[in-house]
Amino acid sequence: MTKWSPDSWRSKPISQVPAYPDMAALRNTEAQLATFPPLVFAGEARKLKKQLATVSAGDAFLLQGGDCAESFAEHGADNIRDFFRVFLQMAVVLTFSGSQPVVKIGRVAGQFAKPRSSDNETKEGVSLPSYRGDIINGIEFNEKARIPDPARQEMAYRQSAATLNLLRAFAQGGYASLENVHRWMLGFVSDSPQAEKYEALANRITDTMDFMRAMGITSDSHFALRETDFYTSHEALLLGYEEALTRVDSTSGDWYATSGHMIWVGDRTRQPDHAHIEYCRGIENPLGLKCGPSLTPDGLIELIDLLNPQNEPGRLTLIARFGADKVGDHLPKLVRAVEKEGRKVVWSCDPMHGNTITAAGYKTRPFDRILKEVQAFFDVHQAEGTHAGGIHVEMTGSNVTECTGGARAIRDEELQDRYHTHCDPRLNADQAVELAFLVSELLKKRQAGHTKHTQAAE
Ligand code: TRP
Ligand code: MN
Repeated sequence: MTKWSPDSWRSKPISQVPAYPDMAALRNTEAQLATFPPLVFAGEARKLKKQLATVSAGDAFLLQGGDCAESFAEHGADNIRDFFRVFLQMAVVLTFSGSQPVVKIGRVAGQFAKPRSSDNETKEGVSLPSYRGDIINGIEFNEKARIPDPARQEMAYRQSAATLNLLRAFAQGGYASLENVHRWMLGFVSDSPQAEKYEALANRITDTMDFMRAMGITSDSHFALRETDFYTSHEALLLGYEEALTRVDSTSGDWYATSGHMIWVGDRTRQPDHAHIEYCRGIENPLGLKCGPSLTPDGLIELIDLLNPQNEPGRLTLIARFGADKVGDHLPKLVRAVEKEGRKVVWSCDPMHGNTITAAGYKTRPFDRILKEVQAFFDVHQAEGTHAGGIHVEMTGSNVTECTGGARAIRDEELQDRYHTHCDPRLNADQAVELAFLVSELLKKRQAGHTKHTQAAE
């Protein structure tokens, strides 16, 4: 294999690259970014890798979620706070029902670049370059906005830094205390049309918290109840940006992507001899690999060989995104190949991307299809004796109408009310917490199974 360097991807074939008209300006921006401070520290990426290793061993669960695409227009404290509140509520519900730690990774503070199925978008006879995410061009449908502008990379970097700064403050500064999150969760339950369905679980959490408090275990006395580890991730699509933020860690001498804690490779850019795999194989961060219907078992093992040759647990998360009806056809083969070869991976379920349909002129995702994909994912792992390690969802903390269904039953005709996404349809706040409650039932079932096994062994 040829020698890796942060720019060795440049000699490989590459897809999904924007056509920058001004290459000199692009090089300038990249040179500038290369002088900026890292957004994350290598030690944090190592810590995340250790936590993901516990997921791959079956001892923890991964929750990864956030916007399909972050946008410059929606960059505000309220959005970040609302997202974080919803995310943490999901985490509490999953932690409690699975009786396992939840590894928390946002699709946030760097999730700006989008792969597109077509280079151009045509509207009423006018054809323009496709929108590729705010880090590249503007979403407005006019010629000027759609020209890739390198200055946007600096904006994205600065927005990521500000977002991460606030999230770190929330995670470590007391806002994320279990008491707070529990209170928000009770608010969700009492407002939900499905309140009775969620009350039993919520009440058990209340009892547990009361019991702990009576024993003197509170967020004042125990930092574990007061703080949480929260990590960032995004698709490493715009490789010039990633390269500029690739740094040697002085403690280990290894290369790290410092644009986020974890980065992933998309289903469209995972060709083994192409640029995106080349870039990712050389950095030490935890990696994700999106696995769609076109991935064969041999193809998967080839990619694992490239991305995790040392078979290091926690290094690689396989994010399955098949569509609710296709999980059963595709996932078992892949799981068996990985097991047969003894590869240590985290299996995560992206129930969003294989379930996109068009309704009333909007790209949407029916909530019941999303839930069905997660159920099918759990069924396969149950049958194969492997660990259903986590979920990866597109979600927001605000009250959008982008996915249909859920307890509040958003109808096709309502999609137009608050359809704000810059790319794919996201679960809104209620739908996201609701999904966590429904997934918690799957975790509880699994937990009951484990307990039975342990008792039988004793
Ligand atoms: N520190 C623990 C954890 O991160 C408990 C915890 C504190 C927590 N605040 C939280 C869990 C918010 C979920 C959400 O798991
Ligand atoms: Mn998406």
